[in-house]
Amino acid sequence: MPRKVTFSSAGFSHRAANGRVPEPVAPPGPRLPPMVQTLLFARYRHLWFPRLRRIYGEVFSLDLVAPIRHRVVVLARPEDVDEVFGGSVDVLHAGAGNAVLRPVMGDRSVLLTDEDEHRRARRMLLPAFSGPALRTYEEVIRTVAVAEIEQWPVGEAFRAHHRMRELALEVVCRLVLGVTEQARLAELRPLVRQFTNIGQITLLGLSHPKLSRLRPWRHYISLRQKLDEWIDAQVANRRTAADHPTDVLSHLLRAAESAEGGGFNEVELRDQLVTLLLAGHETTATGLAWTLHELSRHPLHLRTAQRAADEGDDACLTAVVQETLRHKPVIYQVARCLTEPLTLAGYRIAAGTTVMPAIGLVHLDPTHHERPETFCPERFLDRRPPSPAWIPFGGGARRCPGAGFAVQEATIVLREVLARYDLRPDRARPETPRPRQVTQVPARGARIVVSRRENGGS
Ligand code: HEM
Repeated sequence: MPRKVTFSSAGFSHRAANGRVPEPVAPPGPRLPPMVQTLLFARYRHLWFPRLRRIYGEVFSLDLVAPIRHRVVVLARPEDVDEVFGGSVDVLHAGAGNAVLRPVMGDRSVLLTDEDEHRRARRMLLPAFSGPALRTYEEVIRTVAVAEIEQWPVGEAFRAHHRMRELALEVVCRLVLGVTEQARLAELRPLVRQFTNIGQITLLGLSHPKLSRLRPWRHYISLRQKLDEWIDAQVANRRTAADHPTDVLSHLLRAAESAEGGGFNEVELRDQLVTLLLAGHETTATGLAWTLHELSRHPLHLRTAQRAADEGDDACLTAVVQETLRHKPVIYQVARCLTEPLTLAGYRIAAGTTVMPAIGLVHLDPTHHERPETFCPERFLDRRPPSPAWIPFGGGARRCPGAGFAVQEATIVLREVLARYDLRPDRARPETPRPRQVTQVPARGARIVVSRRENGGS
């Protein structure tokens, strides 16, 4: 299929040789019943997508039924994905693409909104994730990391993912909401834990109002109400605080003072905070769990990383984190819903279609990543990961605002872990990815065994 794509101010435009705009054409894809495709996507996308790429090529279609029936066009080629990330945000709606998360994050969440409302939300969120702001978070992350890591059982197998979730939860409670009192932390932690532990079926069912009277959904809705009340009290507390704390919530309240037309209203602020709590801890914890999983199975890379931890070479540790996010992407795909027909990858794609940049496939592109199946942190030493072939944080106007926060947190935690411990897996066979809500987690929880280093840095 010839690729004739030009960029216009209204988005992409495509004309056939005779000057007429062609009718929408769906790329090829499997002919399985939509329910089967949905199940394969939900459970086995990390195996199924590479297979579909082998059969149909770099762009293929799916027919999915959840949360509602919709056609999906999956993109595997970095250049096509880059066009989506750089395309018009009025045509490529990510908020609509994330609709399944609406009942969890809230209608006003930055993840769920598009166009002007989304732009305004990003403007107010970004200062809390700027370089200077991130530097003020470092010490809290280090303190939380040391307290957690020092409790690890030496010589016994344990699930690193579970421990990293506790660590990352503590970090967001303290740095997003600014909670420092132990009693308040003890109230908040179980609320966020329960709220995050939503199963796939409950998540999908939340979009159907009729189910809200049944137990799992009723319970979940009441949990969100409790979390809202807790957050409202914390916001009220922060508004009257005499000191000038440097947590994300305080940044948002300050941004409100200078924002044209005022800051977030009460509901908007609450939805952003719930979004940051959830988006900011499961993802980072999963990235860290995979990092330990990989290092425990690669003794040479482990030694190099331990040396880097001893010598304070954070660039090397960051390369380990970046390579893990490439090799084992925490989020396998992102979505954009088309508000108008669009020409992409040589196809005229119909309005209403979901375009899906497949992060997991892009990261295995051999033209951008030599021996892509191999875990090799050296590839990012002294070299920034190649855009557009390294996209663990998505891209364009929707690129994860917490990317710097996440990489900084992972680097600090890794430094503290490696300065203290040797790592080994509890069994040689690597763990497979398993979908957990929107993330791909290690199926057995990244089980590792740690032992104190004899000549370690700490
Ligand atoms: C390893 C950790 C993380 C990964 C892999 C990750 C990945 C992503 C991805 C793939 C997206 C969607 C981007 C797109 O659609 O193009 C996203 C969005 C987002 N992430 Fe992260 N994230 C991580 C950590 C964080 C942290 C620490 C925070 C905040 C504390 C955060 C907050 C958000 C928010 C608010 C959005 C929505 C952005 C928007 O729609 O404009 N994330 N993240």
